[in-house]
Amino acid sequence: MTTATMSQDDLFRPGLEGVIAAETRLSRVRGDIGELLIAGYPLEEIAGRLTFEGMLYLLWEDRWPTAVEEADLRRELTTWRSLPDPAVQLLRAIAHQQLPVMDALRMVAGTLDLDLSASQRQDSQLLARVIMARLPVVTATYWRLRQGLAPLASKAALSHAGNYLYLLTGQQPTPAQVRGLETYLNTVLDHGLNASTFTARVIVSTRSDLVSAIVGAIGALKGPLHGGAPGPALDMVFEIGTAVCAEPYLRAKLEAGERLMGFGHRVYKVRDPRADVLGTAAEKLFAAEEDTALYELALAVEETALNLLEEYKPGRRLQTNVEFYTALLLHGLGLDSDLFSPTFAISRAGGWLAHCFEQMAEGRLLRPKARFVGEIRRSESLQ
Ligand code: ACO
Repeated sequence: MTTATMSQDDLFRPGLEGVIAAETRLSRVRGDIGELLIAGYPLEEIAGRLTFEGMLYLLWEDRWPTAVEEADLRRELTTWRSLPDPAVQLLRAIAHQQLPVMDALRMVAGTLDLDLSASQRQDSQLLARVIMARLPVVTATYWRLRQGLAPLASKAALSHAGNYLYLLTGQQPTPAQVRGLETYLNTVLDHGLNASTFTARVIVSTRSDLVSAIVGAIGALKGPLHGGAPGPALDMVFEIGTAVCAEPYLRAKLEAGERLMGFGHRVYKVRDPRADVLGTAAEKLFAAEEDTALYELALAVEETALNLLEEYKPGRRLQTNVEFYTALLLHGLGLDSDLFSPTFAISRAGGWLAHCFEQMAEGRLLRPKARFVGEIRRSESLQ
């Protein structure tokens, strides 16, 4: 089709690249300069300072929390940590099949409001707290059931992050571990109109409910081009094994036309600021545990990957993304790679819910168009 014959109807952006489909006050992503603001604050200034409850309050209420406000939100979340019976039964059945944790989370997320009354379900603010409180419990309960271990009861004295670590391991987490996990959860809480957030907004724009939005968003997050990358990124570092093997290993992948997990981003054309925050947190954690070998190997792999990406994909400006250091940090916290994407979901759910509230306030059904490219006015030839 020539430009002259193109109309507005023909405008098509594959992948919706650059299309503005919502307004948000939650986070601002500047891919050109590598800047991420959460509720107006530069991520790197707040991720290592706030607790996760404090960060959630900031995002949801658009205000830095007082100690009392933060404690109130923590108490509300603590109230909803136990799971409805059908959720536990479903987890047991799925554990029998040894399904991936992300699949279990998607399936059981749909049952999280089963013990609420009709009026409680109508209360979106309450429902948001129930969902946030229960996602870590679902993940940890399934994790233990799948290994044949008994699930643990939450400890009210532990924070959201601390309790999650406790439910997974049965051990009281150290302050350094809680800080490491909180820094991770704070870093990935919200990030503009990414694929899973868009999915959640589309779902509530139909006036569907928050639970449905979360289920859909988990499904979108699961894919390796979005939240499913950190496991493969870590596998890659382990397969490389030593710094001298990085170059031949990565070159072979690129020669085969494969993508390097943990690199490249639709929006960031400079380094993802979240990679720096998580890289620093990983460095601290590994240093505290006096074993920096894996961290140093990851640095060598990153440097080699960036050089090769420039060689094989010149001008594409492919940089390290959030998932590369996510893998390292969460591994340093003792999490298995099957828990990486679910742990991402546990945090990002706070962003999804905040976007759902914005979309509900906006009130407009999200319904784009497709350009029809099939045959028209066909008729079957008569025999
Ligand atoms: N490794 C090798 N080549 C890559 C990579 C990569 N990681 N990423 C992009 N490219 C190449 C593409 O093959 C393409 O090359 P071509 O023009 O020669 O065909 C070019 O760079 C542009 O790629 P696009 O697919 O147009 O970039 P897009 O913006 O759609 O991709 C994405 C972004 C999906 C994240 C991509 O960079 C990728 O697949 N990365 C690896 C997976 C990953 O790390 N995902 C996590 C993202 S962060 C998050 O969602 C939380």
